[in-house]
Amino acid sequence: MLTLEWKNDRVSMIDQTRLPGELVSLEAGTVDEVIDAIKRLVVRGAPAIGVAGALGVALAARLNSDPAAVHAEADRIAEARPTAVNLRWAVEQVRPFIAAGPDAVLAKALELHAADIEANRALGYRGAEWLLERIPSPVNVQTHCNAGGLACVEWGTALGVVRALHEKGSLGRVFADETRPLLQGARLTAWELDQMGIDHMVVVDGAGPTVIVRGMVDCVVVGADRIAANGDTCNKVGTFPLAMAAARAGIPFVVAAPESTIDVATPNGSAIHIEERDPAEISDWNGRRITPTATPALNLAFDVTPADLVTIIVTESRIINVAAGERP
Ligand code: MRU
Repeated sequence: MLTLEWKNDRVSMIDQTRLPGELVSLEAGTVDEVIDAIKRLVVRGAPAIGVAGALGVALAARLNSDPAAVHAEADRIAEARPTAVNLRWAVEQVRPFIAAGPDAVLAKALELHAADIEANRALGYRGAEWLLERIPSPVNVQTHCNAGGLACVEWGTALGVVRALHEKGSLGRVFADETRPLLQGARLTAWELDQMGIDHMVVVDGAGPTVIVRGMVDCVVVGADRIAANGDTCNKVGTFPLAMAAARAGIPFVVAAPESTIDVATPNGSAIHIEERDPAEISDWNGRRITPTATPALNLAFDVTPADLVTIIVTESRIINVAAGERP
Protein backbone atom coordinates (compact mmCIF):
# COMPACT_ATOMS: atom_id res chain seq x y z
CA MET A 1 0.00 0.00 0.00
CA LEU A 2 1.41 3.37 -1.02
CA THR A 3 0.84 6.37 1.26
CA LEU A 4 0.99 8.73 -1.68
CA GLU A 5 1.38 8.55 -5.43
CA TRP A 6 1.07 10.49 -8.68
CA LYS A 7 -2.27 9.55 -10.27
CA ASN A 8 -4.12 11.18 -13.19
CA ASP A 9 -2.00 14.34 -12.96
CA ARG A 10 -2.82 14.72 -9.28
CA VAL A 11 -1.14 13.98 -5.96
CA SER A 12 -3.12 11.16 -4.41
CA MET A 13 -2.62 10.75 -0.64
CA ILE A 14 -4.18 8.49 1.98
CA ASP A 15 -6.11 10.93 4.17
CA GLN A 16 -4.47 10.22 7.54
CA THR A 17 -6.89 12.50 9.38
CA ARG A 18 -9.59 9.86 8.68
CA LEU A 19 -7.67 6.80 9.92
CA PRO A 20 -8.29 4.37 11.52
CA GLY A 21 -12.03 4.79 10.87
CA GLU A 22 -11.84 5.16 7.10
CA LEU A 23 -9.17 4.33 4.52
CA VAL A 24 -9.77 6.98 1.86
CA SER A 25 -7.55 9.04 -0.41
CA LEU A 26 -7.49 12.75 -1.06
CA GLU A 27 -6.58 13.80 -4.61
CA ALA A 28 -4.84 17.19 -4.73
CA GLY A 29 -5.12 18.90 -8.11
CA THR A 30 -3.71 22.30 -7.11
CA VAL A 31 -0.68 23.52 -5.20
CA ASP A 32 -2.95 25.06 -2.55
CA GLU A 33 -4.53 21.65 -1.98
CA VAL A 34 -1.10 20.01 -1.57
CA ILE A 35 -0.03 22.71 0.92
CA ASP A 36 -3.29 22.39 2.82
CA ALA A 37 -2.89 18.59 2.99
CA ILE A 38 0.64 18.98 4.41
CA LYS A 39 -0.47 21.59 6.97
CA ARG A 40 -3.54 19.61 8.12
CA LEU A 41 -1.54 16.35 8.40
CA VAL A 42 -3.56 14.60 5.70
CA VAL A 43 -0.05 13.58 4.69
CA ARG A 44 2.53 13.65 7.48
CA GLY A 45 5.81 12.19 8.63
CA ALA A 46 9.10 13.64 7.41
CA PRO A 47 9.77 11.40 4.36
CA ALA A 48 6.12 11.48 3.22
CA ILE A 49 5.87 15.26 3.30
CA GLY A 50 9.15 15.44 1.42
CA VAL A 51 7.80 13.32 -1.43
CA ALA A 52 4.44 15.16 -1.30
CA GLY A 53 6.37 18.43 -1.65
CA ALA A 54 8.32 17.14 -4.65
CA LEU A 55 5.12 15.92 -6.32
CA GLY A 56 3.59 19.31 -5.47
CA VAL A 57 6.34 21.03 -7.45
CA ALA A 58 5.63 18.61 -10.33
CA LEU A 59 2.00 19.71 -10.15
CA ALA A 60 3.04 23.38 -10.11
CA ALA A 61 5.18 22.77 -13.21
CA ARG A 62 2.17 21.28 -15.00
CA LEU A 63 -0.09 24.19 -14.04
CA ASN A 64 2.31 27.10 -14.76
CA SER A 65 4.18 27.74 -17.98
CA ASP A 66 6.39 30.43 -16.41
CA PRO A 67 9.41 28.88 -14.60
CA ALA A 68 9.56 31.86 -12.20
CA ALA A 69 6.01 31.08 -11.09
CA VAL A 70 6.95 27.42 -10.50
CA HIS A 71 9.91 28.52 -8.35
CA ALA A 72 7.57 30.73 -6.31
CA GLU A 73 5.20 27.77 -5.79
CA ALA A 74 8.18 25.61 -4.77
CA ASP A 75 9.05 28.22 -2.11
CA ARG A 76 5.50 28.12 -0.75
CA ILE A 77 5.50 24.32 -0.61
CA ALA A 78 8.87 24.20 1.18
CA GLU A 79 7.46 26.48 3.88
CA ALA A 80 4.29 24.47 4.55
CA ARG A 81 5.82 22.88 7.66
CA PRO A 82 9.06 24.12 9.21
CA THR A 83 10.63 21.30 11.23
CA ALA A 84 11.04 18.22 9.01
CA VAL A 85 14.05 19.01 6.84
CA ASN A 86 12.94 16.37 4.31
CA LEU A 87 10.32 18.78 2.93
CA ARG A 88 12.78 21.50 1.93
CA TRP A 89 15.37 18.88 0.95
CA ALA A 90 12.97 17.20 -1.50
CA VAL A 91 11.79 20.52 -2.98
CA GLU A 92 15.43 21.51 -3.54
CA GLN A 93 16.08 18.14 -5.21
CA VAL A 94 13.43 18.80 -7.89
CA ARG A 95 14.02 22.56 -8.24
CA PRO A 96 16.93 22.31 -10.73
CA PHE A 97 14.62 20.44 -13.15
CA ILE A 98 12.08 23.27 -13.39
CA ALA A 99 13.97 24.84 -16.29
CA ALA A 100 13.74 21.56 -18.23
CA GLY A 101 9.93 21.48 -18.04
CA PRO A 102 7.13 19.58 -16.27
CA ASP A 103 8.10 16.07 -17.43
CA ALA A 104 11.62 16.48 -16.04
CA VAL A 105 10.30 17.72 -12.69
CA LEU A 106 7.87 14.81 -12.47
CA ALA A 107 10.57 12.28 -13.39
CA LYS A 108 12.78 13.56 -10.55
CA ALA A 109 9.87 13.56 -8.06
CA LEU A 110 9.03 9.96 -9.02
CA GLU A 111 12.70 9.06 -8.56
CA LEU A 112 12.50 10.39 -4.97
CA HIS A 113 9.26 8.44 -4.49
CA ALA A 114 10.97 5.17 -5.47
CA ALA A 115 14.17 5.97 -3.54
CA ASP A 116 12.20 6.50 -0.33
CA ILE A 117 10.89 2.93 -0.45
CA GLU A 118 14.38 1.53 -1.04
CA ALA A 119 15.94 3.65 1.73
CA ASN A 120 13.38 2.55 4.30
CA ARG A 121 13.80 -1.13 3.55
CA ALA A 122 17.58 -0.85 3.77
CA LEU A 123 17.58 1.03 7.07
CA GLY A 124 14.90 -1.25 8.52
CA TYR A 125 16.94 -4.42 7.96
CA ARG A 126 20.17 -2.75 9.08
CA GLY A 127 18.53 -1.54 12.31
CA ALA A 128 17.00 -4.96 13.02
CA GLU A 129 20.37 -6.68 12.52
CA TRP A 130 22.08 -4.23 14.88
CA LEU A 131 19.48 -4.92 17.58
CA LEU A 132 19.64 -8.70 17.13
CA GLU A 133 23.41 -8.63 17.58
CA ARG A 134 22.83 -7.16 21.05
CA ILE A 135 19.42 -8.25 22.32
CA PRO A 136 18.15 -11.83 22.57
CA SER A 137 15.04 -12.57 20.52
CA PRO A 138 12.17 -11.77 20.93
CA VAL A 139 12.85 -8.02 21.05
CA ASN A 140 10.27 -5.78 22.76
CA VAL A 141 10.14 -2.24 21.39
CA GLN A 142 8.86 1.14 22.56
CA THR A 143 8.05 3.69 19.86
CA HIS A 144 6.50 7.14 19.64
CA CYS A 145 4.28 8.94 17.12
CA ASN A 146 4.09 7.20 13.74
CA ALA A 147 7.27 6.49 11.84
CA GLY A 148 5.62 3.76 9.81
CA GLY A 149 4.65 3.24 6.19
CA LEU A 150 2.15 6.09 6.58
CA ALA A 151 4.98 8.50 7.42
CA CYS A 152 6.87 7.49 4.26
CA VAL A 153 5.93 6.28 0.79
CA GLU A 154 5.67 2.81 2.35
CA TRP A 155 7.46 0.45 4.79
CA GLY A 156 8.50 3.03 7.43
CA THR A 157 11.62 3.99 9.37
CA ALA A 158 11.18 3.08 13.07
CA LEU A 159 8.35 0.73 12.09
CA GLY A 160 10.59 -0.43 9.22
CA VAL A 161 12.96 -1.78 11.89
CA VAL A 162 9.98 -3.30 13.71
CA ARG A 163 8.71 -4.90 10.48
CA ALA A 164 12.13 -6.38 9.75
CA LEU A 165 12.26 -7.89 13.27
CA HIS A 166 8.76 -9.27 12.72
CA GLU A 167 9.74 -10.79 9.36
CA LYS A 168 12.67 -12.53 11.05
CA GLY A 169 10.36 -13.94 13.74
CA SER A 170 12.31 -11.98 16.36
CA LEU A 171 9.78 -9.39 17.50
CA GLY A 172 8.05 -9.50 20.86
CA ARG A 173 5.60 -6.75 21.78
CA VAL A 174 5.53 -3.14 20.59
CA PHE A 175 4.40 -0.37 22.94
CA ALA A 176 3.13 2.67 21.05
CA ASP A 177 2.68 5.99 22.83
CA GLU A 178 -0.69 7.49 21.93
CA THR A 179 1.07 10.80 20.96
CA ARG A 180 -0.92 13.79 22.10
CA PRO A 181 -2.52 15.87 20.79
CA LEU A 182 -3.21 14.40 17.33
CA LEU A 183 -2.82 10.74 18.35
CA GLN A 184 -0.55 9.53 15.55
CA GLY A 185 0.47 6.62 17.79
CA ALA A 186 -3.01 5.56 18.89
CA ARG A 187 -4.58 6.06 15.46
CA LEU A 188 -1.85 5.34 12.91
CA THR A 189 0.90 3.25 14.50
CA ALA A 190 -1.67 1.00 16.18
CA TRP A 191 -3.50 0.65 12.83
CA GLU A 192 -0.32 -0.33 11.02
CA LEU A 193 0.74 -2.80 13.73
CA ASP A 194 -2.74 -4.32 13.72
CA GLN A 195 -2.64 -4.68 9.90
CA MET A 196 0.69 -6.51 10.21
CA GLY A 197 -0.57 -8.82 12.97
CA ILE A 198 2.03 -7.54 15.43
CA ASP A 199 1.50 -7.90 19.20
CA HIS A 200 1.10 -4.33 20.44
CA MET A 201 -0.35 -2.07 23.13
CA VAL A 202 -1.03 1.65 23.20
CA VAL A 203 -0.06 3.59 26.31
CA VAL A 204 -0.58 7.25 27.21
CA ASP A 205 2.49 9.37 26.51
CA GLY A 206 3.22 9.85 30.20
CA ALA A 207 3.43 6.05 30.69
CA GLY A 208 6.19 5.56 28.11
CA PRO A 209 9.08 6.17 30.55
CA THR A 210 7.50 3.78 33.08
CA VAL A 211 7.20 1.04 30.46
CA ILE A 212 10.93 1.54 29.84
CA VAL A 213 12.27 1.70 33.40
CA ARG A 214 10.09 -1.26 34.47
CA GLY A 215 11.88 -3.41 31.91
CA MET A 216 8.89 -4.03 29.65
CA VAL A 217 10.90 -3.17 26.52
CA ASP A 218 14.47 -3.91 25.35
CA CYS A 219 14.96 -0.80 23.22
CA VAL A 220 13.36 2.42 22.03
CA VAL A 221 13.14 2.94 18.25
CA VAL A 222 11.90 6.27 16.89
CA GLY A 223 11.99 8.28 13.67
CA ALA A 224 13.25 11.83 13.22
CA ASP A 225 12.26 15.07 11.56
CA ARG A 226 15.71 16.62 11.55
CA ILE A 227 19.09 15.43 12.80
CA ALA A 228 21.62 18.18 13.44
CA ALA A 229 25.34 17.94 12.61
CA ASN A 230 26.17 17.16 16.26
CA GLY A 231 23.64 14.29 16.41
CA ASP A 232 20.90 16.16 18.31
CA THR A 233 17.66 14.64 17.05
CA CYS A 234 14.34 16.39 16.61
CA ASN A 235 11.20 14.23 16.60
CA LYS A 236 7.56 14.39 17.71
CA VAL A 237 7.15 16.01 21.13
CA GLY A 238 7.37 13.31 23.78
CA THR A 239 10.41 11.58 22.30
CA PHE A 240 12.92 13.27 24.64
CA PRO A 241 11.41 11.77 27.85
CA LEU A 242 11.73 8.29 26.29
CA ALA A 243 15.43 8.92 25.63
CA MET A 244 15.99 9.97 29.25
CA ALA A 245 14.19 6.87 30.47
CA ALA A 246 16.17 4.64 28.08
CA ALA A 247 19.45 6.10 29.42
CA ARG A 248 18.26 5.49 32.98
CA ALA A 249 17.30 1.88 32.11
CA GLY A 250 20.51 1.29 30.14
CA ILE A 251 18.72 0.21 26.94
CA PRO A 252 19.49 1.39 23.38
CA PHE A 253 17.77 4.50 22.04
CA VAL A 254 17.75 4.02 18.28
CA VAL A 255 16.94 6.74 15.75
CA ALA A 256 15.89 5.29 12.37
CA ALA A 257 15.91 7.84 9.55
CA PRO A 258 16.97 8.25 5.92
CA GLU A 259 20.08 10.30 5.09
CA SER A 260 17.74 13.07 3.85
CA THR A 261 16.73 13.72 7.48
CA ILE A 262 20.32 14.61 8.41
CA ASP A 263 20.87 18.34 8.12
CA VAL A 264 24.56 19.13 8.49
CA ALA A 265 23.76 22.82 7.90
CA THR A 266 22.06 22.84 11.32
CA PRO A 267 24.88 22.73 13.90
CA ASN A 268 22.82 21.55 16.89
CA GLY A 269 19.31 21.03 18.20
CA SER A 270 18.87 24.57 19.51
CA ALA A 271 19.06 25.85 15.91
CA ILE A 272 16.04 23.74 14.86
CA HIS A 273 12.77 25.59 14.25
CA ILE A 274 10.17 23.76 16.33
CA GLU A 275 6.72 24.00 14.80
CA GLU A 276 4.07 25.54 17.03
CA ARG A 277 0.62 24.40 16.00
CA ASP A 278 -2.89 25.68 16.69
CA PRO A 279 -3.49 25.77 20.49
CA ALA A 280 -7.00 24.44 19.81
CA GLU A 281 -5.42 21.01 19.11
CA ILE A 282 -4.73 20.91 22.87
CA SER A 283 -7.50 23.01 24.39
CA ASP A 284 -10.36 21.38 22.44
CA TRP A 285 -11.46 17.77 22.22
CA ASN A 286 -13.95 16.54 19.65
CA GLY A 287 -14.93 20.11 18.84
CA ARG A 288 -15.51 20.94 22.53
CA ARG A 289 -13.35 23.17 24.73
CA ILE A 290 -11.79 21.13 27.56
CA THR A 291 -9.54 23.76 29.18
CA PRO A 292 -10.94 26.89 30.86
CA THR A 293 -11.63 29.43 28.14
CA ALA A 294 -9.06 31.87 29.58
CA THR A 295 -6.27 29.24 29.70
CA PRO A 296 -3.81 29.47 26.81
CA ALA A 297 -2.06 26.36 25.40
CA LEU A 298 1.44 26.13 23.98
CA ASN A 299 1.36 23.52 21.22
CA LEU A 300 5.00 22.57 20.60
CA ALA A 301 4.85 19.81 17.98
CA PHE A 302 8.42 18.51 18.36
CA ASP A 303 11.23 18.18 20.88
CA VAL A 304 14.98 17.67 20.63
CA THR A 305 16.77 14.68 22.11
CA PRO A 306 20.38 15.69 22.83
CA ALA A 307 22.99 13.54 21.10
CA ASP A 308 24.34 12.25 24.42
CA LEU A 309 21.08 10.32 24.89
CA VAL A 310 21.13 8.76 21.38
CA THR A 311 22.73 5.32 21.06
CA ILE A 312 22.78 4.98 17.25
CA ILE A 313 21.31 6.61 14.17
CA VAL A 314 20.58 4.02 11.49
CA THR A 315 20.20 5.18 7.88
CA GLU A 316 19.98 3.41 4.51
CA SER A 317 23.76 3.56 4.17
CA ARG A 318 25.31 3.42 7.66
CA ILE A 319 25.11 3.07 11.40
CA ILE A 320 26.25 6.21 13.18
CA ASN A 321 27.41 5.07 16.60
CA VAL A 322 26.54 8.30 18.43
CA ALA A 323 27.17 6.79 21.88
CA ALA A 324 30.73 5.99 20.76
CA GLY A 325 31.29 9.59 19.71
CA GLU A 326 30.47 9.31 15.98
CA ARG A 327 28.52 12.20 14.47
CA PRO A 328 26.60 12.54 11.17
O1 MRU B 1 3.62 15.86 13.01
P1 MRU B 1 3.95 14.59 12.30
O2 MRU B 1 2.92 13.53 12.46
O3 MRU B 1 4.34 14.83 10.86
O4 MRU B 1 5.27 14.08 13.04
C1 MRU B 1 5.89 12.93 12.56
C2 MRU B 1 7.04 12.48 13.38
O5 MRU B 1 7.44 13.12 14.34
C3 MRU B 1 7.78 11.27 12.91
O6 MRU B 1 8.30 10.55 13.98
C4 MRU B 1 8.93 11.70 11.98
O7 MRU B 1 8.46 12.55 10.98
C5 MRU B 1 9.60 10.54 11.36
S1 MRU B 1 8.56 9.72 10.19
C6 MRU B 1 9.42 8.48 9.47
